Amino acid sequence: MAQRIAVVGSNNVDLITYVNRIPGPGETLEAPKFQIGNGGKGANQAVAAARLGADVLMVSKVGDDLFADSTVANLAAAGIDVRHVGRAAGVSSGVAPIFVEPSGENRILIVKGANDVLSPADIDAAAEDLSRCRLILLQLEIAIETVYYTLDFAARHGIEVLLNPAPALPDLDPAKVSLATFLVPNESELAILTGLPTGTEDEVEVAARALIAKGNRTVIVTMGARGALLVTADGKVHVSSVPVTPKDTTGAGDAFIGAFARYYVDGFDPVAAVERAVRYAADSITRLGTQSSYATEAAFEDLLTREGALADA
Ligand code: RIB
Ligand code: NA
Repeated sequence: MAQRIAVVGSNNVDLITYVNRIPGPGETLEAPKFQIGNGGKGANQAVAAARLGADVLMVSKVGDDLFADSTVANLAAAGIDVRHVGRAAGVSSGVAPIFVEPSGENRILIVKGANDVLSPADIDAAAEDLSRCRLILLQLEIAIETVYYTLDFAARHGIEVLLNPAPALPDLDPAKVSLATFLVPNESELAILTGLPTGTEDEVEVAARALIAKGNRTVIVTMGARGALLVTADGKVHVSSVPVTPKDTTGAGDAFIGAFARYYVDGFDPVAAVERAVRYAADSITRLGTQSSYATEAAFEDLLTREGALADA
């Protein structure tokens, strides 16, 4: 059995409107399609890892509205341990109005709601279960003090952490951030984190090196269609993506992280785990929605087998 992954993070209900174009100020525009789905960076990463067969524990918080029960039920249906998904009184659950253009490009607003009251006390309440995990996944959709508290907790217990600094925050504490074994931003998050340009692969490498200089061990930058760049003090590895026709890129970064975590805790080295994760994320953008676009382990293994057969032919 693979070793346990914990996600200390957010859940949202994604309110996805597929638009022909974004309306201007004061403009009313008809859009062709709407879909409601389960999202939130934390929950997405948990679900991606669980669909791929990982044993996942989620520490999260829902509000006291009509989204709460369906969110918990959705996580449980994915086989995730939800004993530490709490309920907060007097706040809404997290929601994310999302707009997807015909190119597959997305724009996301988030209302943190209950995610913002996931507190250090909730980490303490889950401490015994958390301390038995191999890897903790963190993002920035919960209260930042809880992110820092979890980084300290993990350091004390010798648990590795993957920190996904999303959505981007400019003033993160570098001493806390460098506690993570893996820091996984996308290009725009890397730019905000470092104040450096990230338009080209060379610029991405320079910016990632700036984080290494601040004490981070492994920086993995996700670059959409250009794949991912893994940078350590010793060198760098670029992993290319495969060409796919994008339908909806929402949650592709989360698919990457969930898959990376699943393969890493199962003994893949980081580069091999990145190779799997890049392929898994690319597959997710060929389908609409966030979690609804994440393949099961069987479907993903099948995809890899078919591609391997093609490559050998
Ligand atoms: O990363 C994608 C996610 O960002 C969406 O599911 C939305 O909920 C926001 O958290
Ligand atoms: Na998708």
